[in-house]
Amino acid sequence: MIYSAYPLAQFNTYREEILSAITRVLDSGRYVLGPEVSLFEDRLATYCGAQHAIGTNSGTDALILSLRALGIGPGDEVITVSLTAIATVSAVIACGATPVLVDVDPELYTIDPDAVARAVTDKTKAVIPVHLYGQSADMNAIMEIAKQHDLFVIEDCAQAAGASYFDQKLGSIGDVGCFSFYPTKNLGAIGDGGAVVTKNETLKNRILRQRQYGWDNSRVTTEPGLNSRLDEIQAAILNVKLQYLDADNERRRNLAAQYDKKLPRGNLITPKVRSNAVHIYHLYVITTPLRDRLLTSLRNSGVGAEIHYASAAHQHGGYDRLCLIPENGLPVTERLVSNILTLPIYPELTSVEIDKIISFIK
Ligand SMILES: Cc1ncc(COP(=O)(O)O)c(C=O)c1O
Repeated sequence: MIYSAYPLAQFNTYREEILSAITRVLDSGRYVLGPEVSLFEDRLATYCGAQHAIGTNSGTDALILSLRALGIGPGDEVITVSLTAIATVSAVIACGATPVLVDVDPELYTIDPDAVARAVTDKTKAVIPVHLYGQSADMNAIMEIAKQHDLFVIEDCAQAAGASYFDQKLGSIGDVGCFSFYPTKNLGAIGDGGAVVTKNETLKNRILRQRQYGWDNSRVTTEPGLNSRLDEIQAAILNVKLQYLDADNERRRNLAAQYDKKLPRGNLITPKVRSNAVHIYHLYVITTPLRDRLLTSLRNSGVGAEIHYASAAHQHGGYDRLCLIPENGLPVTERLVSNILTLPIYPELTSVEIDKIISFIK
């Protein structure tokens, strides 16, 4: 499939540096939690404007470790969206808590703060705003609700490395920010990886213990934990790629501007951008009532169009009975899942290729 070769294209862009980083790790004999992980954690924390970063095995694990470190478990409710990667919701379920799913803003597709306020009960412990497609949620409103009701805020930044809100990097606004470095992410490793960032030292220490069986520095435990470590090879690759993240995100924004300018309107709506926020277009998602026809014809033309997500979390088998949703359902989310279409966007895509995709759409 042409125009959807992002992970390989990124590898080729940074091939020499990545190969030498991998060789350095192999020659070092330290393969798990060594100097590359520490360096990456320092750099990511600085980059995000948070004091601490903890590497994890995946973005899902970053969420699970954060929830556990915040003491969230059975009997607790966590408010988040249904329009997200299923991982957001699976992390809440993995901790034994109940996901309470609310609707999204009809124009910006991120969590609707009014819906969050309506969903709060005396069991609510946290809210997870997802910075969907690379766009910030309405963090001022979310932080205000969290303050009123004494809730933790866990930012799901899996799709938003480098995006910001009122000049603050996402991940540094709530209690914790959770990142995924799955290869298709805008900051992608070559395998699984994730991280939590936080300004809170106590929380950092709890997450560090949760990451490795509950051990402290002397391998003494006071509570059980998991094994969710970032390995040295992935950290070394991320150390290469983090240096280029801003430039890569800028390239994504330029390509998005090209789509914005040239895509036909009428039956097609291009993404809206929140004011006072910087969108990094992890995904470029349009909506159209002709979605299924357009998807088929783009694919037949060799364009790697996708749907993120064809089913909302509460529509997934096995998840539906474990999630709470409002009595009137999630009308915006349910309408969006049948109208959204993701067009290819990644730094290596050329302007000529984007023009071709636009002409196929026309
Ligand atoms: C919004 C969101 N949250 C969480 C995750 C989970 O990340 P991972 O696949 O690294 O576990 C992803 C990635 O799929 C995601 O897109």
